Amino acid sequence: MDTTTNLTGPMNLDESLKQLRSATVSGVAAAADLETLSAVEAGAVGRESPIAAARRNLGKMAADERRDAGRLINDVAKEIEALVGERREQLQAEAREQKILAEAIDVTVDYAELVTGRLHLIQQMTDEVCDIFAGLGYHIAEGPEAELAWYNFDALNTPVDHPARLGMDTMYVDYGEDENGMMLRSHTSPVQARYMEQHEPPVYIVAPGKAYRNDTIDASHLPVFHQIEGLAVDTSITFSDLKGTLAEFARQFFGSGTQVRMRPHFFPFTEPSAELDVSCFNCDGPGSSCRVCKGVGWLEMLGCGMVDPNVFEAVGYDPEAVTGFAFGIGVERLAMVRHGIDSIRHFVDNDVRFLNQFPG
Ligand code: DAH
Repeated sequence: MDTTTNLTGPMNLDESLKQLRSATVSGVAAAADLETLSAVEAGAVGRESPIAAARRNLGKMAADERRDAGRLINDVAKEIEALVGERREQLQAEAREQKILAEAIDVTVDYAELVTGRLHLIQQMTDEVCDIFAGLGYHIAEGPEAELAWYNFDALNTPVDHPARLGMDTMYVDYGEDENGMMLRSHTSPVQARYMEQHEPPVYIVAPGKAYRNDTIDASHLPVFHQIEGLAVDTSITFSDLKGTLAEFARQFFGSGTQVRMRPHFFPFTEPSAELDVSCFNCDGPGSSCRVCKGVGWLEMLGCGMVDPNVFEAVGYDPEAVTGFAFGIGVERLAMVRHGIDSIRHFVDNDVRFLNQFPG
């Protein structure tokens, strides 16, 4: 601004104040920050300003002249101070705004989503079956996956010349002195023998776990799969107990209206042996176009039977004193039947689009 304006000089005071005022108005408007504004303010109304000089000059004036001049000077000074005050507030508000913007934290920014896992469907099925049997008074037992052929076969009345032992579908482990003495268990049944060896009757156990067979992978076979073994041994267990127990399991697992039927079968470690079918939970029975049972009306569920006396002898039980039943459930099959899954390979593909369909 024009700080040379001289309000004490020969120019008419009125005219000089007008000049000062207009110079200050544009100076205030142009001030882009608080320091510049303060400089403009000091230049117009500060101690060294034309206004201050004019006030000092008032003393030299005659009394009536002084009153008019004084009022004029005050009016312009007030006007300028008001203008400066207004602009100062504006600039302070802008500065605050800038500060807030500079310090702002964007709380809407994406964060790394915490992905929680869930139990695999096979584990869910295993837990569900074990829970049902726990409710019937069964304990959970476990055995090793690398197993002695003795427990996997011999103790279970499976003699050396049995087809299952001919290396066809068994994966032997090169360990120990006895060739073919150690293997990856081909079923969970050896847990029966191990448990009975360690515990006196009565025995009521389910034993979940992995089993291994040298099978070629197809829609219903994997070399590693899951079973749940069941064993009940007591003083007077009958085939009716077996059927009643499995019927109760089927009702709890598939629904209260589920029927069961048994067909004769063969297993080395049970006599008699049977396969258990459950009535299809998805249709009204045989003859339908049901995709679950393919119109048969029944679903093959598991193998079972009365424990062979030779098994009791192998583990040191007296076959004259106790009887028992056993069963083996294929967990993958259970899941496939329950959920209409068309290939066992889905369980190991690790495709989350498949897995996410079973949140548990
Ligand atoms: N271990 C048999 C298998 O893998 C299943 C089985 C059948 C288990 C009958 C049993 C049983 O306990 O009594 O095919």
